[in-house]
Amino acid sequence: MAVLPPTVHPIEPPSGSLIDFGAQIEGIDLETLSDEQFTTIRNALYHHHVVVFKNQRNISPKAQYELTKRFDPQADNYGHGKTIDAKRSILHPDLKTVPHQPQVQIIGNGFVEAYEGLENFQLRHPHHRTFHRDHIPDDKDYDYTRFYRWHIDAALYDLNPPQVTTLLAVRVPKGRRQTLLYDDGSGETMDVPLGTTAFVSGERMFELLSPAEQEFVRTSKIEYAPHPYIWMSPAHSRSTGLGLHSEGLELPPTDLPPIEQDKIKIFPMLWKNPITGKLSLQIHPSAIRRIHLADGSVIDDLERVRDIVYKLQRPGISPQYVYAHDWEEGDLVLFNNRGVLHSVVGAFKPEEVRLFRQCNLAASEPPVGP
Ligand SMILES: [Fe+2]
Repeated sequence: MAVLPPTVHPIEPPSGSLIDFGAQIEGIDLETLSDEQFTTIRNALYHHHVVVFKNQRNISPKAQYELTKRFDPQADNYGHGKTIDAKRSILHPDLKTVPHQPQVQIIGNGFVEAYEGLENFQLRHPHHRTFHRDHIPDDKDYDYTRFYRWHIDAALYDLNPPQVTTLLAVRVPKGRRQTLLYDDGSGETMDVPLGTTAFVSGERMFELLSPAEQEFVRTSKIEYAPHPYIWMSPAHSRSTGLGLHSEGLELPPTDLPPIEQDKIKIFPMLWKNPITGKLSLQIHPSAIRRIHLADGSVIDDLERVRDIVYKLQRPGISPQYVYAHDWEEGDLVLFNNRGVLHSVVGAFKPEEVRLFRQCNLAASEPPVGP
């Protein structure tokens, strides 16, 4: 049989949507990827940011790791380090490591008897009640949901943000949809598939800013908190999942693991796309600590820092700019972790079993600014 060249189809935005990213690739076997095919994938990724491969249920953890690594051959460790050994990290309960491929994590919901060498384990889908200050009432929990936490996959201390993340849907509970509430006084809502992963474009987030704001983000840098996932409080997210309320709930430095100053990360607010050169507003809102301005001065007041960043990011997460992926078993989604923000969404029932594999690698190089 003749092998047809792979095809790349942009995702058709649903009615009312203004999304300008997302594509589906067909005709590539990810288990045996040629250099030519990888070039096609890399081009698609940096033009479309979220790339979907259907029917990949049999891809091995090794092939998933190798696809991820191909974007950064010098990278080798999982994006949050070799092991999630900081038991106090808010990320710790959500991840299980594939024993024979430790850069690949298992995430999801419910009880799993056996998978990839692990037996009888419980997965827990992050629920907004564990991270948001105010909650949707329990009796509405299965009908309504929120963005859990908008983020970039990144340790933000010591390690550089991964270039890409791959997410494989192994088991997907189907049948329900939920209404996502912004609950911030805007009245905005969105109809979403159960357990969607939501994506927004950092390029669009940048384009939506005023000229003065664009100049501000072009010339300012963000300093992230050391050990941010231990430092941040797991109970004061804003209702949009975009950043935290400043209520003095962060751990004081004396309660954190030792801090090495040279491991603190200060990144540009805008990150440059390696193929198109376009600029993407890439800020991990719940881990921010300070803003460094063009004139060398520093905004240190955490409440002010959070308010500034919230105003910059909020326009870009309105429903018309959100791509909510409707997962089917076998979907492998590859996304540009330096060009989108994403969020977990949804509330599962205990018996709704969801099993995903996730891989990303701490990058060999920091992001490049304007
Ligand atoms: Fe993530």
